Amino acid sequence: MKFNSSTDIPDLSRKVIFVTGGTAGIGKESVLAFAKHNPQCVYFSGRDSKRAAEVITEAKTAAPSANLVFLECDLTSLTSVENAARQLTSESDRLDILLCNAGVMNVPPALTKEGFEIHFGVNHLSHALFIKLLLPTLLRTADEPNSDVRIVSLTSQGFIGHPGGGIVFKDLRTTQGSGLMKAMRYGQSKLANILYAAELAKRYPQIKSVSIHPGVVQTNLVASQSGFMKALIHITNPFSIVTPADGARNQLWAATYDKHSVVNGAYYEPVGVPGRHARKSKDEKLAGELWEWTDKELEGFQI
Ligand SMILES: NC(=O)c1ccc[n+]([C@@H]2O[C@H](COP(=O)([O-])OP(=O)(O)OC[C@H]3O[C@@H](n4cnc5c(N)ncnc54)[C@H](OP(=O)(O)O)[C@@H]3O)[C@@H](O)[C@H]2O)c1
Repeated sequence: MKFNSSTDIPDLSRKVIFVTGGTAGIGKESVLAFAKHNPQCVYFSGRDSKRAAEVITEAKTAAPSANLVFLECDLTSLTSVENAARQLTSESDRLDILLCNAGVMNVPPALTKEGFEIHFGVNHLSHALFIKLLLPTLLRTADEPNSDVRIVSLTSQGFIGHPGGGIVFKDLRTTQGSGLMKAMRYGQSKLANILYAAELAKRYPQIKSVSIHPGVVQTNLVASQSGFMKALIHITNPFSIVTPADGARNQLWAATYDKHSVVNGAYYEPVGVPGRHARKSKDEKLAGELWEWTDKELEGFQI
């Protein structure tokens, strides 16, 4: 599908938007694109406040009246997520678009502050906590006449590299950092993004929840890979590595395109193309288990 971020994003008046990982890569490009279309406010998170200030300056150069707010937040800490969600809900009584974009890939084996495998913690669990804590605001916004509330979760075609069972729940409080599992941590977390988005759509149909793969995009995520991984990425995608601005189009499409054309719970490849599933990414039982596991792990977190 042709989707031009300059001309095809509609007027976003009154909309409050939150982008996680808006300080770099396709998250930053999404912040810049949203800001040009008159939203009430674009919140964005990240750890790097210097880069955040640069994003705000760049956005305001193109759209001087744009209202942007940086939420400093480290996704390896659920307490930090809780604080960022508290700030957002104390400042805004509505939220129209939640873009769960931030992510890490193939980082050294580690645990998050609360003791979860780092990819699962950053890519899935921190975003699940944002969703849980922002849900009352999202639901209230969805109650308004003519509302159009969306949650867009970044996954990756790399989800296909998940372990055989899909998600190894019993080891999620370990680094999973040895043997084959080490290479499957990213795929496992990105499978979770697809399953969680689908389950969310089932449980809260008044909110449109989809997962998207952005394409293979020349961002820090790719640049920070090992020489071997970079060579593999370039060999397997010889002519299809795109710029960050191009790579942001699928999430901008999912967040703003005609709501009747975006299917709740679906997974999309760029741009607006139904994604190719594998058996586990359509496994409703596994999606239910993931929901229950997540719910239990996040029990103590509230605002
Ligand atoms: N690039 C690709 O080819 C590709 C392909 C498929 C899927 N994706 C997905 O697209 C999403 C965005 O990736 P990208 O390529 O734009 O990556 P990127 O350029 O590395 O940007 C990642 C963003 O996430 C934030 N982030 C990372 N770790 C964080 C943490 N611990 N706490 C808070 N924020 C954190 C970073 O902010 P700070 O540094 O300020 O913390 C940054 O804004 C990811 O979910 C990724 O899995 C990318």
